This record gives sequence, structure tokens and C-alpha cells, in this order.
Amino acid sequence: MQSMRYVITGASRGIGLEFVQQLLRRGDTVDAGVRAPEQALRLEPFHQVAGNRLRIHALDVSDPVSVRNFAADVCFEPVDVLINNAGVPGQWVGLHELDYDDMARTLAVNALGPLRITAALLPALRQGTVRKVAYVSSRMGAVSSNTEGGAYAYRMSKAALNMGVRSVALDLRAEGFSCVLLHPGWVQTDMGGPDAPVVPEVSVRGMLRIIDGLTPEQSGRFFDFEGEEVVW
Ligand SMILES: NC(=O)c1ccc[n+]([C@@H]2O[C@H](COP(=O)([O-])OP(=O)(O)OC[C@H]3O[C@@H](n4cnc5c(N)ncnc54)[C@H](OP(=O)(O)O)[C@@H]3O)[C@@H](O)[C@H]2O)c1
Repeated sequence: MQSMRYVITGASRGIGLEFVQQLLRRGDTVDAGVRAPEQALRLEPFHQVAGNRLRIHALDVSDPVSVRNFAADVCFEPVDVLINNAGVPGQWVGLHELDYDDMARTLAVNALGPLRITAALLPALRQGTVRKVAYVSSRMGAVSSNTEGGAYAYRMSKAALNMGVRSVALDLRAEGFSCVLLHPGWVQTDMGGPDAPVVPEVSVRGMLRIIDGLTPEQSGRFFDFEGEEVVW
């Protein structure tokens, strides 16, 4: 497969870090967005091995100035694939304990951030070879499978992301973009916790298989890491 240039958000740990590792291993180039580059110590070993195929940039997806600076840093050459991965869990509290500031922050990161990044990187994505954008969502944002309640901030943010991406996919369809929502499974990361049944390596391998094979006809759809369509 021809090597390509990927941009990944939330690359300091967890699923984002695993994306970086697998892409570098197969020869691709990665621009990694992290909130605090000086603290992204887990990227250091890859940096030493991959040389200039890995570039690390400061990025807070909820901060418009940070997104603008990030775009200025990465848009100097074409971007083939954008993977919107950064996310926060928000507070998992009941209806009477809801912290509305926390909910707004969670929406800003999980739902608004990926749209901000997509819009900011569009000029470079248009210059790319495949015009693909992936959004790491969650089955918890699927309305019809919410049978347990709770997790308001997280569920609402991912449901909003899902709807936003559906519109992005339709709006960019005429330009040949393929935009896809991905459920990574319940994954062993800081967010997923140690009891999660899926390890990052398996989740990311599955998601990369979907991204690699993605076609414009699949744009606007929602798949899990095993390739099964997720019911909204
Ligand atoms: N793990 C699961 O079971 C699971 C299930 C379904 C969906 N997901 C989704 O998968 C994605 C990755 O989750 P994960 O499990 O890898 O979580 P994680 O281990 O908690 O890592 C989250 C990543 O997002 C970054 N991030 C948080 N807020 C950010 C911001 N404002 N701007 C830029 N980056 C920010 C973090 O950076 P810092 O290191 O600076 O905090 C970190 O790199 C998320 O979108 C999550 O919702 C995860």
C-alpha cells in the first residue's frame, strides 16, 4: 500500500497513541496533535525510530486559537487522512448531580472539536489523495441502544458528534470525501479502564482496516472496530 500522511488528534495515550504506532510501523507519516507536547513522553520512542515521519504538535481541540495554530502547522502540505480521536469521558453522575459546566466542556471536546478540526484542515484534505476523515465516536452515542440511562455528558456529546458527522458527510459528498464514524469497542485505556475486553492494538487494527477500505458510498455511516454497522 502507498504510504500516506495522517493527522491524528489525542495522540498522547490510549487509542490515539496506538494509531500513531501502527501507522508509523507500516511506513506512513503522522502529524500527531497532543495537548501538552512536553508531557507526551509515550510518543518519544516512536519519534526516535520514525524520524521526520512523526511530527508532534500542540493541540487542544476545544480551543479555537489552538486549532488555528495547529492547522497552520500541518496545512503546509496535503493531508490524506484525518482521524479525530481526542475525547473526554465527562462526569458520570445522575440527573440531580449534573455539572453543566462539565457537560459544556465535554460537548466542546467530543462534539464541537472534531468539526472545528475538519473545517480547519479542509484545504489540506482537499489536496490529499484519498479525502478520508474518521471520527472515533462511541456506541454510547447511539440513541436506540441507550437502555441503561446515565452518562449524560458523554452520551449527549457522542450523539451530537454522530449527527454533526452525518451532515459533514453529506455536505462534502460532492467533493468525493469519505467521512465515517467508528466505535472502537470497549478498550483498555485510561478512559476504558483495566476491565475492558479489547486491547488498543486489536481495536486500532480493526479501525484501520475500515479506514483503508473506506469508499465514498460508505460515507456518513457508523461502524464498530470489527466492521459491523452500528445502529444509531
Ligand atoms: N476506551 C474506550 O473504551 C472507548 C470506547 C468508546 C469510545 N472511545 C473513544 O475513543 C477516543 C479515545 O479514547 P481513549 O480510550 O484512548 O481515551 P484516553 O486514554 O482517555 O485518551 C484520550 C486522549 O484524548 C486527548 N484529549 C482529551 N481532551 C483533549 C482536548 N481538549 N484536546 C486534545 N486532545 C484531548 C487526551 O490528551 P491528554 O493526554 O492531554 O489528556 C488523550 O490523548 C475518545 O474519543 C473516546 O470517547 C473510547
